[in-house]
This record gives sequence, C-alpha cells and structure tokens, in this order.
Amino acid sequence: MTKERQKEVAKTTDTEFAEFDELVASIDETIQKEERAIYSERALEEAYHPKNVGELKSPDGAARITGPCGDTMQIQLHVEGDILTDVKFVTDGCGASTACGSVITELAKGKTVEGASRIVDADVLAVLGGLPEENVHCALLAANTLNAALDEYRNKQKRNELRQ
Ligand code: FES
Repeated sequence: MTKERQKEVAKTTDTEFAEFDELVASIDETIQKEERAIYSERALEEAYHPKNVGELKSPDGAARITGPCGDTMQIQLHVEGDILTDVKFVTDGCGASTACGSVITELAKGKTVEGASRIVDADVLAVLGGLPEENVHCALLAANTLNAALDEYRNKQKRNELRQ
C-alpha cells in the first residue's frame, strides 16, 4: 500500500470512529431520557452509585432470597451489642433491585435489631420516590431479605444461648 493510500485509509477509519462515538453518545442520551421519564432522580442515583455493595467477613446474620421474578438478593449483617454496625448486599437483579438494596442497607445501618425489623418495602419506596409498577416487587425482595437476615441472626443468638 502506498503512503497516500495509507493516509486515506487512516482518515476514513478516524471518521468512522467519530461517527460510531456519536452514535453511542446519542443512544446513551436516549436511554437516559427514557430512564428519567420512568425513575426518580434518587432511584437512578442509587441504581448507578449504590452504597453497601459487597460481602462481609463472618457475618452475624445473612440471607439470600430469590424473588418471583427469578432475581436474587443477599444481605449480610454485622451486629455489635444490639446495633447493626454494617450491612452489605449483592444482587443479580435489575437496576431497581440494586437501588432497593442500597436504600435498605442504609436504612438498616445504625438501627437496633428490633428497629431494623420494622423496615418494610414501603419505607424503601418512600426514599426512592416510588418505582414503576413492574419494579415494586424489588423493594419487597429487599425488605424480605433484610428480615430473613435478621431472623437468621436471632436464631443464631438463640442457639448460642441454649449452648451456654
Ligand atoms: Fe426482580 Fe427487580 S428484583 S425485577
């Protein structure tokens, strides 16, 4: 290939890359507009920048639940005294379930075991400014998982007491 031809090919490739970048940017913009029409700012913030994602080393309580949609959430707790000092979650679910996991772990952290067990799906939905009908169950999945993790903690405590 001559030098002239190489330059021509490079120019064409640059133009193609620029056009492709423009296309990706416009698709991103469309998706973001659609998401903003469906989800609140807070829900998008929690979905894209969730807090408390991950796993704890030797959790004091833990649960993993698969909801009717087939998505799974796991919540783990650290309890010191009677206070939830750390709460982490992971989910393979949708963006809404990530947002719900983020909110429920934030709500639970710092509460007593009894206080955390009073958290329900409506509390999560209230923080998120609601969710579309098809995602309301994501909040329930988060609330059920937190409650199951608290139950597991309580059961462990009972077993330990019986051993003593
Ligand atoms: Fe199932 Fe969100 S957790 S769709």
